[in-house]
Amino acid sequence: MSHRYGHLLSPGKIGALQLRNRIVMAAMGTNFAAEDGHTTERLISYYEARAKGGSGLIVLETSAALWPRGASMPNTIGFSNDVFIPGLSELTRRVHQHGARIIAQLNHSGSISQADTIAGRPIPVPSAVKKSRSDMVRVLTNDELQSFIKGAGADGVGPQYYEMTPEQIAETSQGFASAAARARQAGFDGIELHAGHGYLLANFLSPYTNPVSYTHLTLPTNREV
Ligand SMILES: Cc1cc2nc3c(=O)[nH]c(=O)nc-3n(C[C@H](O)[C@H](O)[C@H](O)COP(=O)(O)O)c2cc1C
Repeated sequence: MSHRYGHLLSPGKIGALQLRNRIVMAAMGTNFAAEDGHTTERLISYYEARAKGGSGLIVLETSAALWPRGASMPNTIGFSNDVFIPGLSELTRRVHQHGARIIAQLNHSGSISQADTIAGRPIPVPSAVKKSRSDMVRVLTNDELQSFIKGAGADGVGPQYYEMTPEQIAETSQGFASAAARARQAGFDGIELHAGHGYLLANFLSPYTNPVSYTHLTLPTNREV
């Protein structure tokens, strides 16, 4: 390793988390989980190979805090029940034995949950969903198009949305908290809350998908910040 990249291989720290180097593997969905939300040997071997290969920190692919609800795809890892803990523990054990750290990426896919759409489950959103036109179809391959058509649900009507009540928001927050506790129990070194990519938490944060929240928001003055 040339001197130019000296920092890359030197130990790093994120808060209290000590890392052997600065190589962080970003979360990337593999679809290697089982359809029932459990880890599989294929999934575990994949992450173990990245740990063995030298990553300092692995961010596990997007996983469903409230599985099966909010799973981005049919083969998404679940964190919603204690039955998932043994498989997740095996995953962290196999990564840790090579000196890497691993954090879980907890998510609810919200309005773009393919798994909810395919299953015909109503999907929670902060505010009514605006219809939008997209020219994305023009750039998709036939295989990709097929998967989108499947994503229109069994009856082809597309996703069904409902605006969340305060109680449902509280239940969802609790689901995330329980998932985080399971991640800790399974030996993860931390969690990442996925609040991007148009998923549920991002839907709350964006004035485009949650216009109402901003009418009630009182911004602090500089003095208060
Ligand atoms: C196949 C694939 C799957 C991905 N899955 C996730 C994911 O599960 N969670 C996530 O936050 N980002 C996901 N991403 C985004 C990547 O983590 C990363 O942010 C993105 O590729 C941009 O990083 P780069 O600029 O280093 O390429 C995915 C990207 C790819 C290519």
